[in-house]
Amino acid sequence: MHPLTNRAVRLVALGLCLGAGTASGQYALRDKLVGVTGTNVAMDASGRSIKVDRVRAIHTTDNSLEGGTAYLIQKDPFLAYQLGRNLNFREFRVRDGVLGKGAASQLGGPMPDGTTAKLTTNNTVGCLACHNAPDGNPGGGINLAKDSGFGRQAPHYYGAGLVEMIGIQTRTKMLQQLDTNLDGWVSAAEAAAAGPSLTVVPAPGEAALDFGDPQLDGGLTGKPSFNNIVVVWYVDGNGVHVPGATGVDGVTTFGYDFELVVWGWGQGAGRGALNPTNRAFLWDPFNAHSGLDAYDPTSNSDPDGDGLAAPSLSGAIQFPATHKSPDRGVHLHANGYSLDDPDGDEYLNEISEGDLDLGEWFMLNVPAPAFRGTPAEYDDGVALLDGMDCTSCHTADWKLEAQGGDFAGDRRLFDFPVTWNDAAQEFQGKLVPLWTQVGDVFVPNRGEYTVSGVFCDFRHHDLGPEMHEIGYDGVVNRPFRTAPLWGVGSGFPWGHDGRSLTLDDVIRRHGGEAAASRALYLGASVGDRQALLRFLGNLQLYDIESLPADISGDDIISNAFVVQGKDTGYERFNAEWLFKIPVRIQGDVLNANGQLIKSSAGTNIRNAYGTDLAYLKDNDGDGWPDVWDPNDTQVGYKNGKK
Ligand code: HEC
Ligand code: HEC
Repeated sequence: MHPLTNRAVRLVALGLCLGAGTASGQYALRDKLVGVTGTNVAMDASGRSIKVDRVRAIHTTDNSLEGGTAYLIQKDPFLAYQLGRNLNFREFRVRDGVLGKGAASQLGGPMPDGTTAKLTTNNTVGCLACHNAPDGNPGGGINLAKDSGFGRQAPHYYGAGLVEMIGIQTRTKMLQQLDTNLDGWVSAAEAAAAGPSLTVVPAPGEAALDFGDPQLDGGLTGKPSFNNIVVVWYVDGNGVHVPGATGVDGVTTFGYDFELVVWGWGQGAGRGALNPTNRAFLWDPFNAHSGLDAYDPTSNSDPDGDGLAAPSLSGAIQFPATHKSPDRGVHLHANGYSLDDPDGDEYLNEISEGDLDLGEWFMLNVPAPAFRGTPAEYDDGVALLDGMDCTSCHTADWKLEAQGGDFAGDRRLFDFPVTWNDAAQEFQGKLVPLWTQVGDVFVPNRGEYTVSGVFCDFRHHDLGPEMHEIGYDGVVNRPFRTAPLWGVGSGFPWGHDGRSLTLDDVIRRHGGEAAASRALYLGASVGDRQALLRFLGNLQLYDIESLPADISGDDIISNAFVVQGKDTGYERFNAEWLFKIPVRIQGDVLNANGQLIKSSAGTNIRNAYGTDLAYLKDNDGDGWPDVWDPNDTQVGYKNGKK
């Protein structure tokens, strides 16, 4: 518990952040100190803006190459996290190649009919344009003109690493049951030998979930009938992906492989959803929404042709059979970047493989939503969900297995549990290291972990006409992914289309497969219904960087957390405090009104952010690091020299 005085200190600090402006416009580059003179100066006393200029990051696997992504992730992992955070929230500029050649606000295609355009593309300058509630976090936000005139609501992606790990592990558990000869794919005979349903137990004590029928519909030919979240590709007799194949025919295709497309509301029967990994959910929206094309061998390389790529630096396998980043690098510069320029705007290699390493590292580690209440209140809420059969789809917990055999373990660097302090009436966080330090390398422990309260079975369900979607092309989309309910109390509005303006309304729209559950909700006492809605309302997001948190591991949230000799205010999870060389804040300074304020702008940015390390250095400031730049003394945003 914190005495009131502590809280007062906090409110002053928070007031400062708010005073500095809550408009999302603050996530451009603002690297100047408070008090610098001039006009239109890019200063930010709140310290939340991006403090380093755009430089393409360079993918490395040798962690001795200073400033390369293996170095950053393994030797300065909180700097890697912060650089990844910056990529998720940066407002890209024309000089970074954003939006393409005179191509702001285009139509991108196609819908299932093959002719109708599917969404408005090239209409924003970064992820934060849509994922910005709360601002500066991977929150939810706007409704986008996509698939239907009713649009699609942007969900939050707090806890993104946990969701990705659940998806990859569930695929592994399914494959283990089917692939009896252990050659990595499912042959027609293996499919025939399997039963009519393939189940996975999410966590001890949870009911087994049925992911559908792995058998081919024609016996030794045809397609399996999985739940719609499973996307399948077909392979030849050696397990090599046969592009364009739509089933097993016994002539060119002899089996299949598959992935769980855990991300996205759903694209209709037979089309799964959007992306199976966080890395793909970086290059895909960068391309679709901002015209920034990624060249990414990590996503696309598949030397043995099986449709799978080796794990990324963060440890996630990728699925090139179905998801290839847009810039294919057909023509490469001798330094290794792509000369292809698929969007024809003359800005080359707009998003680099290294950028994706860092953005993915942030998404892997970004904290999960929290519950605003006591553990007993949480248990009461889950009991209500159980009683109304909501948890037959909104599965509470998933267990990640420790590393070993086919499992990768919990690949995160740290956990950040956030709990409700009832006495102080506030959320509080705690940094829990999940790493072992070996020399100067941070090695993730890859232990087991139970993801608590995600409330999702990662399956698609048909909830009946009130939840169906009439596409632009007239095709009706019926199945949608069970919405993960963590953070749902901070979401507004609700449903894939954002058409429900209350939680009660979105529950009342549950028909079809959820009709019996809805009947239990409607038949419950007013008191139980209100208690359920209160519980859902308490599944919340929070501002990650200003939340009071113990990051030093002493179980105390200090009121005057000293970093680099400066009192930064109350202790909180600002990754900058955990860099190899922590950021030193400007501190006490007089503002334009002559008031004494604490400026969180940084005074040692070049040092702390490693801007002078060999693989990050960009002498002429054109976004092309010197080790790539064909001319590092001539500013050339497009290709290093032009
Ligand atoms: C123009 C608005 C917009 C922009 C910009 C945008 N998103 Fe999204 N995002 C959405 C919408 C809408 C959805 C849901 C789409 C669907 O499922 O049909 C979504 C879904 C997601 C999801 C999946 C969430 C879930 O629960 O399924 C992730 C992860 C995500 N976005 C990450 C990003 C990242 C990273 C960027 C930047 C590289 C980005 N988005 C840029 C609108 C946007
Ligand atoms: C048969 C599976 C199923 C059952 C049972 C079920 N749901 Fe859902 N739920 C879903 C699906 C699928 C969605 C996504 C619907 C959409 O937007 O297309 C969803 C969406 C929601 C949402 C909206 C979340 C958001 O982010 O917009 C809430 C809230 C919700 N469910 C609560 C409940 C409650 C409470 C119950 C029990 C009374 C329940 N659900 C029972 C499958 C189910």
